[in-house]
Amino acid sequence: MSDRPAKSHGRLSQSASLTPRELVSDRPRLATAWCAKVITLFPETFPGVLGASLTGKALQDGLWALETIDLRPFGTGKHRQVDDTPAGGGAGLVMKADVMGRALDMAVAGTPGRKDWPIVYLSPRGKPLQQADAGRFAAARGMTLVCGRFEGLDQRVIDHYRMEEVSIGDYVLTGGELAAQVLLDATVRLIPGVLGNAASTEEESFSDGLLEHPQYTKPAEWRGHAIPPVLLSGDHGAVATWRRAQAEALTQARRPDLWAKRADGDED
Ligand code: ADE
Repeated sequence: MSDRPAKSHGRLSQSASLTPRELVSDRPRLATAWCAKVITLFPETFPGVLGASLTGKALQDGLWALETIDLRPFGTGKHRQVDDTPAGGGAGLVMKADVMGRALDMAVAGTPGRKDWPIVYLSPRGKPLQQADAGRFAAARGMTLVCGRFEGLDQRVIDHYRMEEVSIGDYVLTGGELAAQVLLDATVRLIPGVLGNAASTEEESFSDGLLEHPQYTKPAEWRGHAIPPVLLSGDHGAVATWRRAQAEALTQARRPDLWAKRADGDED
């Protein structure tokens, strides 16, 4: 089959604009802000949840940028076909290497090497996403995300572009779009200035290998349930000790895997 670009090659998403879709660029940008490029058959699903709250405000303020690349125009033939039957037989359809290759060529043009600009393919077969990955992605200059659909992407594209395959958990989604938004949320909130309160990323779950302690706020009593008295004692040392004990107990009970990792290595 010919690898010649389809007629509309290079034409990017022009889907109907729903607020805050206007925040998503469909044109390559010159700015230097951290930038996510997302290759998807459903560009209208972005920014999705990322358009709300702190990530949305940061997008609006230009602290990061989002560029969607619609895969459909890169498809072959009159119907812009993007998938085909699996080699070797079997159910479902596989995303075509020639189609994704053309979209990726456009996405990577002008971007630096993988360390400064990772290319991630969202897939249930990938390495489970960790907080440390989000930190690594946030420290890069940007990243390209590939959202799979159907039975997945032709393996040759994954290998050729040295893509990282990342999963957001042991369950199967209909496509990579939600997973890309999860990964981007975890990443973008680590970009300096996005949260506005840097201290909160240091104290939260996973930063020190423990789940976070429970939180309470006023009123002091709600439907007969009181806030643990130590939190109202004004004794900062006692509060810290209580929180630590809670975090450890929760981690042991809910995440023996995380607890074992701590016990193996970096106990303080
Ligand atoms: N695509 C489908 N399921 C997924 C998952 N669990 N993680 C990442 N991408 C996916």
